[in-house]
Amino acid sequence: MTNHRFEFSYEVYADSSELPKEDADLLQEARKITANAYAPYSKFHVGAVAVLSNGEKIAGTNQENASYPVGTCAERVLLGTAATLHPDMPIKTMAISYRTKEQESDHPISPCGMCRQALLEYESRTSHPIRLILGGQKGKVFIITTVKDILPFAFTQQELK
Ligand code: THU
Repeated sequence: MTNHRFEFSYEVYADSSELPKEDADLLQEARKITANAYAPYSKFHVGAVAVLSNGEKIAGTNQENASYPVGTCAERVLLGTAATLHPDMPIKTMAISYRTKEQESDHPISPCGMCRQALLEYESRTSHPIRLILGGQKGKVFIITTVKDILPFAFTQQELK
């Protein structure tokens, strides 16, 4: 028997004022786009904005449905749009934020398991890591270098070959 360890590093900023301007601006756009989420059931409004390798920005918000499982997360709405408009173009960075009705969000959330799987596939099809900026409307911000770091033991296309 051998023991194996999985570790990864990520950056933590006290708030968005510590970020480089380009990152702070992208997170601000993700915060703003939460206004376009359709989340009447959870009242949890998520916004994501990504910069592609050509500099273009693409946004996504969560879109819920009366038939709950039909709802789609902001990240996968964004990925579908990006892949449709610019097939196989790398995403350099994606900022993700959220707000709830009750209170101003004050800590980062990270993508759900299904979105991690979708993000990983995107990294792989474009052969490019996606840098993630995660933050609430205020408070701490996390920066993650690649989706691979947050989905260890992933099931990938390699298994289907
Ligand atoms: N949601 C996202 O859009 N992204 C995430 O990373 C986590 C969850 C959405 C799904 C659902 O509409 C609402 O947030 C509550 O789970």
